[in-house]
Amino acid sequence: MHRFCNIILALLFAVISAVTSCPPSDRAALLAFKAALHEPHLGIFDSWKGTDCCHNWHGVSCDAESHRVADINLRGESQDPIFQRAHTTGFMTGFISPRICKLARLSGLTIADWKGISGEIPKCITTLSFLRILDLVGNKISGEIPADIGKLQRLTVLNIADNQISGRIPASLTSLSSLMHLDLRNNKISGPLPRKFGQLRMLSRALLSGNKISGPIPESISRIYRLADLDLSTNNLSGAIPLSLGKMAVLTTLNLDCNKISGTIPTTLLTSSVTNLNLSQNVLEGKIPDAFGSRSYFTVIDLAYNKLSGPIPKTLTTAAYIGHLDLSYNHLCGRIPTESPFDHLEASSFTHNDCLCGKPLKAC
Ligand SMILES: *[C@@H]1O[C@H](CO)[C@@H](O)[C@H](O)[C@H]1NC(C)=O
Ligand SMILES: *[C@@H]1O[C@H](CO)[C@@H](O)[C@H](O)[C@H]1NC(C)=O
Repeated sequence: MHRFCNIILALLFAVISAVTSCPPSDRAALLAFKAALHEPHLGIFDSWKGTDCCHNWHGVSCDAESHRVADINLRGESQDPIFQRAHTTGFMTGFISPRICKLARLSGLTIADWKGISGEIPKCITTLSFLRILDLVGNKISGEIPADIGKLQRLTVLNIADNQISGRIPASLTSLSSLMHLDLRNNKISGPLPRKFGQLRMLSRALLSGNKISGPIPESISRIYRLADLDLSTNNLSGAIPLSLGKMAVLTTLNLDCNKISGTIPTTLLTSSVTNLNLSQNVLEGKIPDAFGSRSYFTVIDLAYNKLSGPIPKTLTTAAYIGHLDLSYNHLCGRIPTESPFDHLEASSFTHNDCLCGKPLKAC
């Protein structure tokens, strides 16, 4: 009788673990994914063995109810003890196998900072309709952003920064209605920003610096109510700064430096919610609007290397706070005010203008 019970228990256990372990098709997809990658130093895939990919496979986790693979999280730079023991950061070569698209319930795919992973983003990734996070930062991935990326209606994070992605931003990207965090920095992306960029209603960070994006800044961006951080620096953008950027509710950081932006500085920007403003290295002209006031609070305001002319606006002394101010390399002229913030700024903030004078430059 005792022996019979043991058999029943063993059977029961087998049934339960079969139900809670990953389906063989998910396991096969993971093994195909692993086979396309080569990680020479740390053995991060050593734990990927046995039938149950839902337990103790490094970086893999499954949904508690469906027991399908829900998350792949492989970071080459983290606080993981695996790196601290090895005194190194991760390095991996190979490519991302399209077989991961068989993991139909995947909601998070993070393959970040492995430095050497190349190849393209598998096109079929847009069929993973449960995907919320796609983070491939810090590899050597090339090719284009999949044209139908907009199908990923649950996507909240798209981070493909620090790769070699080329081509244009597909128009369909603007239909990612859940997207909160977009990071395309330091790639080779060209062409214009989609005109309907402002459709990304949930977006709070848009980081696109270090590409070759050209054309104007779409006016529609200012309709993104939650946008706090807009970094378009070091691109090939031209045209004027849309006036409406200065009317955004929570925009805090606006970096447009190193482009070909022309026209004048919108008055609205100087009393807006923006506290970090970098417009340096463009072709802005005209006077700096004399429109600062008690709502002007800037930790950084960098206007260097433009074609600004006229005097330093007197109202700058009425600003609530000015931390770092850089007006160098313009065509400004006249007396530097003496009141705060001008009492704590160095000569480097004012050099290489047409005829500025007074402390900290030479006397007028
Ligand atoms: C920059 O944009 C202009 C059009 O505004 C284009 O003619 C030029 O080729 C672009 N340069 C680069 C390096 O992409
Ligand atoms: C503004 O941008 C320029 C050009 O990218 C950069 O050199 C400068 O350090 C930035 N200014 C500040 C205050 O960060």
